[in-house]
Amino acid sequence: MLELKTRKTQKTIEPVTGLTILDHALKEDVDWGFSCTRGTCARCRCFVASGRELLSLPSEEEEDRLEPEELEQGYRLACQCVVMQSGPISVTHKPYF
Ligand code: FES
Repeated sequence: MLELKTRKTQKTIEPVTGLTILDHALKEDVDWGFSCTRGTCARCRCFVASGRELLSLPSEEEEDRLEPEELEQGYRLACQCVVMQSGPISVTHKPYF
């Protein structure tokens, strides 16, 4: 199960391996702010509350855009992190502003 949360919405869907978190949000019409889809604007920033081990490792773009502490705490860029394995995942949209 993949739980997607934003300020306005909460939706639980079946995760599809190979798709990013942002892909899932868009596919399911979840109002998930984003802009570049290339890992530079950080508008899609999110917090992974559970299932971190089921996602791809941080991309180079995420390493560049996010602080090491943020990555350590579980913050990711939704356009960069890909679901690698099915399982319980919970992600909350957490843009800077
Ligand atoms: S959409 Fe710009 S960093 Fe993800």
